[in-house]
Amino acid sequence: MSDLSKVRQRQLAAAPRGVGFMCDFYIDHAKNAEFWSTEGKRYIDFAGGIGVLNTGHLHPKVQAAVAEQLQKFSHTCFNTVPYELYAAVAEKINARAPIEGDKRTMFVTSGAEAVENAVKIARAYTKRRGVIAFNGAFHGRTNLTMALTGKVAPYKIDFGPFPADIIHAPYPNELHGVSIEAALEGLKQIFKCHIQPTDIAAIIIEVIQGEGGFNVTPDAFLKALRQIADEHGIVLIFDEVQSGFARTGKMFATEHMSVKPDLITMAKSLAGGFPLSGVVGKEAIMNAPVVGGLGGTYAGSPLGLAAANAVIDVIEEEKLCERANTLGERLKERFSQLKADIPAIADIRGLGSMVAIELTQPGTGEPNAELTKKVQQIALENGLMFLTCGQYYNVIRFLYPLTIEDAVFDEALDILEAALRQAQ
Ligand SMILES: Cc1ncc(COP(=O)(O)O)c(C=O)c1O
Repeated sequence: MSDLSKVRQRQLAAAPRGVGFMCDFYIDHAKNAEFWSTEGKRYIDFAGGIGVLNTGHLHPKVQAAVAEQLQKFSHTCFNTVPYELYAAVAEKINARAPIEGDKRTMFVTSGAEAVENAVKIARAYTKRRGVIAFNGAFHGRTNLTMALTGKVAPYKIDFGPFPADIIHAPYPNELHGVSIEAALEGLKQIFKCHIQPTDIAAIIIEVIQGEGGFNVTPDAFLKALRQIADEHGIVLIFDEVQSGFARTGKMFATEHMSVKPDLITMAKSLAGGFPLSGVVGKEAIMNAPVVGGLGGTYAGSPLGLAAANAVIDVIEEEKLCERANTLGERLKERFSQLKADIPAIADIRGLGSMVAIELTQPGTGEPNAELTKKVQQIALENGLMFLTCGQYYNVIRFLYPLTIEDAVFDEALDILEAALRQAQ
């Protein structure tokens, strides 16, 4: 039995099957947009730990900031013994978040925890119970965020019951036959048949659906949600856990839109590989929960905050928003040209470097999950790691580090093009 098979056997004997994984190898080390397996094979990382590594694996400045913090202290629990770093990063976020007026930022650890806290804050502010989320949304794996998630398999299977008063509305997706008008009509039906708008605490939506297929939410729909929220005193939450921190060519994807939310959730690339998440929002809403109502043992870890402090500087110093646009354009241009040769390419979409390719059956237009999986497998064998997404598992998504070297980026696109040609 090879060493690799032995490790795999140990893993399967020691950990449950529910913790899925994609690769049949184990990582040894990583640098910027590349990593190496324990067997010495090199891979280009277009998954970025699911959108966490906009500044790359172990960016020297992020690594140095965390190492420096580690010389001082690693943990106190901010609710017990506070540290200045919390205020420093909150100030940085407040100065950049596309939300009107005076702002406050709080920190926790995971994306799901940020979403949980945004809902808690909205409920405390409005003293209401209901939350509207959207079909195809992904908000996390905790009980509340599973309930908010609009995709059953594999996230919700056998895990109920879920909290009450969470209602899913249709998400506008022209490619899959849901117009903006139909989605708004769905909301009207909810208000008529399920819950009155004045019982709704929050509407939560991804500016660009991540897991749902890198669907850019139409500006007109967000505008309509803003109007509904204003009319009925509902808190509007934009979940930017995946789309934030330069991925879309802006610090926050919200900046592409003509409306601003009341709260924004963030995580993933906020701290370049160290666990940190947060909620930023209007002062009056953020200050609604009572003293002691927010927090957690690891909430706002000093190591995560040290990383985030450096990440924000790196994004600005290295102009990663511009880089996201440049790389995204190159990718879109290259694969648009391939459409004639590879008719399965039905759509290439996204903002900045939050780009995806949707694959369908030529002729019928049916989602082509089988082909998508095949392309992914061939690319992985040839040294390119990427993730898929979408309600129908037929979307290739790109979450490469924005710090990726040009030559490595081009090499990855060559591998992807070859995999698409071979698989079809
Ligand atoms: C939009 C969005 N919200 C929330 C989450 C949950 O984040 P986490 O896995 O860190 O809990 C994710 C994770 O992919 C996400 O993409």
